[in-house]
Amino acid sequence: MKGLILAGGSGTRLRPLTHTGPKQLIPIANKPNILYCLEDLREAGIVDIGVILGNNMPERVRDLLGDGSAFSVRITYIVQGEPKGIAHAVGCAEAFMADDPFVVYLGDNILKGGIRYMVEEFAQGGHEALVALCPVENPEKFGIVELDDRGEIISLVEKPKQPKSDLAMIGIYFLRKSIFPVIRSLKPSWRNELEITDAIDRLRNVGKVKARLVRGWWKDTGKPEDILMANHLVLETLERKNEGTLDKDVRLIGRVSIGRGTTVKRGTVIRGPVIVGENCLIGPDTYVGPYTSIGDGTTIINGEIESSIVIGGAYIDCGKKIVDSLIGAGCRITSSENALPKGCRFVIGENSQLII
Ligand code: DAU
Repeated sequence: MKGLILAGGSGTRLRPLTHTGPKQLIPIANKPNILYCLEDLREAGIVDIGVILGNNMPERVRDLLGDGSAFSVRITYIVQGEPKGIAHAVGCAEAFMADDPFVVYLGDNILKGGIRYMVEEFAQGGHEALVALCPVENPEKFGIVELDDRGEIISLVEKPKQPKSDLAMIGIYFLRKSIFPVIRSLKPSWRNELEITDAIDRLRNVGKVKARLVRGWWKDTGKPEDILMANHLVLETLERKNEGTLDKDVRLIGRVSIGRGTTVKRGTVIRGPVIVGENCLIGPDTYVGPYTSIGDGTTIINGEIESSIVIGGAYIDCGKKIVDSLIGAGCRITSSENALPKGCRFVIGENSQLII
């Protein structure tokens, strides 16, 4: 079986973070989202992987993944360019897939529990497609599947206004080459995309499509609050580690992971689960609270931060408490307290969000 990771799309809901790269590279617990997808595929024995590239800085995906050898997989890049829909992206991979069955993994999805059990189920044969489902609270935002009492599919609808169930199709689809002629027959939807949900719905005329509930949790990290939630869930299983240098009166409470070259200065309290990357400076007199991920090369002095992601290379010295925040690479947050005239000062890019 081959794999296909989608790293295209526009990422508009994640601006300004996606002004500097594709959303699939946003780190969850200091690791780019796309690597969780790649590892799930590899752990299920899938090492021949196509990666769909869009037109938002695709070179950053190539820089991270290279030819895949650093991750013990083989990567073939497939350029989609403009985001014309998930089904369009899958259609771009027809030559790469040839006659092999394959699994499509949306590069902004993250799953606990891996995909091996689904790979095994699909490999047993008998189905044209297998879709994985997970109950959601906002079904109008997903592809929704209605099942009968025996678990057979009654309907599949993309972002229904009046959802027939709360069972969302997660971004993992097991398919065969029978999907390609179906994709060619699709017309763009109301959002001007070729929808994978429509393709799988039509595939039911060709053969059986099976639906199964996913094990463990699943998150689509398409919005800032989902990224913070995914970060929270991944940090739940963080392991304690210290490769940095700590002053004597620093307190690390619970599961805290500190990377190489990082220094934690006096009076600082870090209450896990918290991951701090490499070459950071934390403190003095700083509090880092639960469910925070701090990327490499970040400095945080004299403040408090909790339940947040600092992507990396940031400088934070503001004496304020920061919560539920997503802070992009290289940001500076400092204090205006002793400056005149009094007031907040901003140098912020397009589509930034401030809650002050
Ligand atoms: O996350 C699960 C949901 O993903 C499903 O329930 C929906 O049925 C499915 O349509 C999809 O919905 P989204 O609206 O979240 O899709 P989004 O546009 O965010 O794209 C999902 C991923 O696919 C994302 O990593 C970007 C990538 N993509 C998207 C498009 C439209 C591409 O690579 N190329 C594209 O043309």
